[in-house]
Amino acid sequence: MGIFGRDMILIATLAAMCAAMLTGIASGQSFNQYYQTTTGPSNFILSNGSTVAQLVLDQASASGFSSKSNYLFGTFSMNIKLVPGDSCGTVATFYMTSNSATHDEIDLEFLGNLSGQPYILQTNVFAHGVGGREQRINLWFDPTAAFHLYTIEWTQNAITILVDNIAIRQFNNVFLQTGVPYLNNQSMVAIGSLWDGDSWACHGGSIKLNWQDAPFIASYSGFNLISGCSIPNNTISSCQASKFATFSVTPKIQAHRLNQLIIVKKKYLGYNYCTDKNRYPTTPPECAYNIV
Ligand SMILES: *[C@@H]1O[C@H](CO)[C@@H](O)[C@H](O)[C@H]1NC(C)=O
Ligand SMILES: *[C@@H]1O[C@H](CO)[C@@H](O)[C@H](O)[C@H]1NC(C)=O
Ligand SMILES: *[C@@H]1O[C@H](CO)[C@@H](O)[C@H](O)[C@H]1NC(C)=O
Ligand SMILES: *[C@@H]1O[C@H](CO)[C@@H](O)[C@H](O)[C@H]1NC(C)=O
Repeated sequence: MGIFGRDMILIATLAAMCAAMLTGIASGQSFNQYYQTTTGPSNFILSNGSTVAQLVLDQASASGFSSKSNYLFGTFSMNIKLVPGDSCGTVATFYMTSNSATHDEIDLEFLGNLSGQPYILQTNVFAHGVGGREQRINLWFDPTAAFHLYTIEWTQNAITILVDNIAIRQFNNVFLQTGVPYLNNQSMVAIGSLWDGDSWACHGGSIKLNWQDAPFIASYSGFNLISGCSIPNNTISSCQASKFATFSVTPKIQAHRLNQLIIVKKKYLGYNYCTDKNRYPTTPPECAYNIV
């Protein structure tokens, strides 16, 4: 099948997923069941029966929340509507981290931009303290106009990051082939945040956050879209043997996702650490196994 055929599939998929996304929003559930915040009330505002959170960034404070439990494997989604207008220097995130000394982490960082200029989605994966695996995706829609669904799917085999159910990145467990550690023995919390990243985020840090446009507000919802092996309800070893560790998509969906990754690599990939020869004269070993 040519790239054109794959594009047609992607467009059809996008249309189907827009319908699915609306379902995701409709299944709103109270923030407090799985999440908590330590941000003060003027920078973290719950509305719509606690199903929507507004994260407010101003000069007084950044904003954030975290899952109450830790998780080892599962599927973690969030509907996010990003800061509109001039968002240059703001960084909104949805990520998972083990908060440990040699930490595991899976990052989605949305880098704001000047009015009318496109957002970038930067992703990264840390395994046992080692990160430096940044990739940047140009989103194919305006992420400030509506909620879109962002997903981290984490099993023993792979970490897949999806945007509106389109796979944009897959980090495979290639420990046996390469010795590169995988994220499989440290539990992580899920976190959403909005903060000032103007030292590096917008136009490489050369354009700063314009506080005259504050407060900056990003909206998050879908707090029930969390399905994983939780700790302390379970132990590390029981999570490693749970359905969340081994759950994987059907071969048909996996083939579909591989096509999506090929299109994303061709059309939407802005930066890929795997091809950054200045930074990595020797290509990191896991790259040989990744499409994106
Ligand atoms: C607001 O709450 C209603 C009722 O629970 C829900 O159907 C709707 O999806 C919520 N809106 C958002 C944006 O989550
Ligand atoms: C967790 O995995 C890392 C990397 O594979 C390994 O170095 C470490 O010993 C493991 N820790 C435990 C407690 O199994
Ligand atoms: C902002 O927009 C400019 C111009 O299109 C682009 O070069 C840049 O990568 C965008 N994103 C960031 C975070 O600077
Ligand atoms: C832990 O177990 C309790 C009791 O079954 C359940 O209500 C709760 O939702 C569980 N926590 C998580 C994060 O799954």
